[in-house]
Amino acid sequence: GTRKELSMMQRWPIRVARPTHQRYPASVPLITGQRILDTMFPIAKGGTAAIPGGFGTGKTMTQHQIAKWSDADIIIYIGCGERGNEMTQVLEEFGELVDPRSGNPLMDRTTLIANTSNMPVAAREASIYTGLTLAEYYRDMGYDVAIMADSTSRWAEALRELSGRLEEMPAEEGFPAYLASRLSAFYERAGMMQTLNGSTGSVSIIGAVSPQGGDFSEPVTQNTKRFVRCFWGLDKTLAYSRHFPAIHWLSSYSEYLNDLSGWYSDYVSPKFVDYRNRLMALLNQESSLMEIVKLIGGDVLPDDQKLVLEIAKVIRLGFLQQNAFHKDDTCVSMEKQFKMMDVILYLYKKSRQLVAMGMPMSVLKAEGIYEKVIAIKYDVPNDNLQLLDLYKKDIDDFYHRVIEKNA
Ligand SMILES: Nc1ncnc2c1ncn2[C@@H]1O[C@H](COP(=O)(O)OP(=O)(O)OP(=O)(O)O)[C@@H](O)[C@H]1O
Ligand SMILES: [Mg+2]
Repeated sequence: GTRKELSMMQRWPIRVARPTHQRYPASVPLITGQRILDTMFPIAKGGTAAIPGGFGTGKTMTQHQIAKWSDADIIIYIGCGERGNEMTQVLEEFGELVDPRSGNPLMDRTTLIANTSNMPVAAREASIYTGLTLAEYYRDMGYDVAIMADSTSRWAEALRELSGRLEEMPAEEGFPAYLASRLSAFYERAGMMQTLNGSTGSVSIIGAVSPQGGDFSEPVTQNTKRFVRCFWGLDKTLAYSRHFPAIHWLSSYSEYLNDLSGWYSDYVSPKFVDYRNRLMALLNQESSLMEIVKLIGGDVLPDDQKLVLEIAKVIRLGFLQQNAFHKDDTCVSMEKQFKMMDVILYLYKKSRQLVAMGMPMSVLKAEGIYEKVIAIKYDVPNDNLQLLDLYKKDIDDFYHRVIEKNA
């Protein structure tokens, strides 16, 4: 029979993590609809990832894509020391875009924290923590929250500036000696948690890092690398050749792969991880073959190695490259991602049989099937995935045609 005042407002010191009951190990992926992320280098719900990349390589774009399409319940977008027009763009675009899961405007699930480059640095240092605390607030209600921080380098620069004014002893490149511990404290607040009321919620952190001149050996990138478990390295050669997202498959990694393999096998396909590893192996083979090609040219390679190069090209252009401005390609379901891998590997299998029979690669290429498979991402609309099953028949036809012509 006592009266108790309940208010909608809570006060919390932003630099202190909100308490939870316990932390769960990573087991569910944060699905982003981006093939190179979901299939190749997945992040778990409650996980941490860094997107380092030089000027104009696509950090902001990647973060916008994740903010738009990932299957988190709540998005916290922290614009930290970057351009103001990018925040305006989020504000405008997200109001119009519809969240495919709820049917509401995307803006409804998004919180923006704007500390653009023309705003005071002291506030910039705090903006990151404000975002984190908001995320934890929603996590405690049982939601899956994803934080985008663009960019943590500007935040580290704010630390450096404040530390300089406090006349603290500078360490590497003028950053304060506690840079590493601040970064680790930041990423440590991510996790899939059992909240105090017994429900489950998660905070995933995706931080952009903008090293000067794309040099990954500078302190912010190096220290970030120590604390995140997912590293999506953007490559300027890829960006200059307009291969987007410019995440390089050889320099990136995800330590969540093993933790998530159970989920993929239950919810996508038992073959998923095996297929993913086979694509990766082909890309690795391509990279070592390219060394030889650079020295002596591609013509001298035997046909089975020429085939590896051709299939790796199909993987790069048809699978890894993804156009954020195309209505179907901007976000791709796990089912489509898996089926695309399936078609590519089927094409490889059939081509390999032909090459083993002594058919030259030039004959195989002349059939145009490789281009056809590369174009799957545009030719098969997301709502008509049955079309994908027809590609295997096309590949079979191609197989018989080549044999007939060369009999
Ligand atoms: N997935 C993508 N699909 C198509 N185009 C892309 C993609 N990612 C990046 N781009 C292109 O690259 C350009 C630069 O990307 P973005 O602004 O994200 O780079 P950034 O790394 O944030 O640069 P800065 O260091 O200046 O902040 C974009 O304007 C866009 O044209
Ligand atoms: Mg940017």
